[in-house]
Amino acid sequence: MSAMVGDCDVAVIGAGVVGLACAYELAGLGLRVTVFDRGEAGSGASRQAAGMLAPASEAEAEDQALVALAVESCKRYPGWVAELEHTSQTRCGYRTEGSLLVALHRSHLEEIDRLAQIQTRLGLATTALTRDEMLARESNLSPRVIGGLFAPEDRQINPRWLTIALQTALCSVGGTIDCHADVAPSLQAGRVAGVEGRAGAEDVHVRAEVVVLAGGAWSGSAWPETAGSLPLRPVKGQILRLRGAALIDHVVRTPDIYLVPREDGELVVGATSEEQGFDPATTAGAVMDLLRHAWLAVPGVAELELAETGVGFRPALRDNLPAIGPTGIEGLYAATGHYRHGVMLAPITGMLIAEMVRGGPTPALLKPFDPRRFGQPAVATGVVP
Ligand code: GLY
Repeated sequence: MSAMVGDCDVAVIGAGVVGLACAYELAGLGLRVTVFDRGEAGSGASRQAAGMLAPASEAEAEDQALVALAVESCKRYPGWVAELEHTSQTRCGYRTEGSLLVALHRSHLEEIDRLAQIQTRLGLATTALTRDEMLARESNLSPRVIGGLFAPEDRQINPRWLTIALQTALCSVGGTIDCHADVAPSLQAGRVAGVEGRAGAEDVHVRAEVVVLAGGAWSGSAWPETAGSLPLRPVKGQILRLRGAALIDHVVRTPDIYLVPREDGELVVGATSEEQGFDPATTAGAVMDLLRHAWLAVPGVAELELAETGVGFRPALRDNLPAIGPTGIEGLYAATGHYRHGVMLAPITGMLIAEMVRGGPTPALLKPFDPRRFGQPAVATGVVP
């Protein structure tokens, strides 16, 4: 039987946006980095993600530390994208129009008012708009709109383009990507020794001083038990891609739906949030609900082509916060559990992981996201409660 053997300085498990961002920063330090993915690069949650970079619109979790991390990540986005676009000669579709949070009836308005209070408390800038101000910004909104909010600092990016740019940029700074390689950290004397697993018919044995686990919703299968407990679950999201004439420029959200316009005529409509494990089915009910809520907000969507339906799995930890940093095993770092925010948090995750791997202390921003916060896995006692 053949085998893939070798060595590198850092092995990254997971070639989604988060894993690639970590790999790109680490390779930029001059380290030899190899990324492994069980499928194609960017074929998991990154492929389905809408790409909203929206600390204000996504503030409903009311978590001050998460908002601080998101704001810091979004601050870094323009420079990061410019660098990636320059290095890869690939566009990432970064757009700066902001988000409109649209109320179509009174209960929407109550929900949006509640979000506005959270935003104010967390220091996130939004402006209340009247019905006429909403329609002046987006003439294709439903005439039923009764008001809402403008989040001027929200941004968006095309995660599929970003994934391509990251892969190209990573390879141009010396990194490599091995797809269809299902690997987990290998341990020796209690510390990381590299990764091992399978790539098709081949065994994989690659030595590495450091392993970064960024496997999204699949991180659990590569997570060594001795690294501590990782209470991770997939949260299924069904999402649609429509295509046709551009109807909106801003990201448009109601409490039921978000609509994300791309410059190439795609309109992303998302997303469900389902606790269904890794159920890959696209369901008629979800498609119907997404289209109905999209049509209620922007009636012109009825004329667009339904180009694609998709299912993604958000990696969510028990507290729905990410795990970024060293684990209970020397040399093993986690960059997972980003839940709804993988694309938004990718630059800050990559930069801070690189800082820590280089020997820096855990940055204060990351203290609440310590991968060791869940303690050790529960040990079966044999006592029936
Ligand atoms: N970030 C949006 C979502 O997960 O649906």
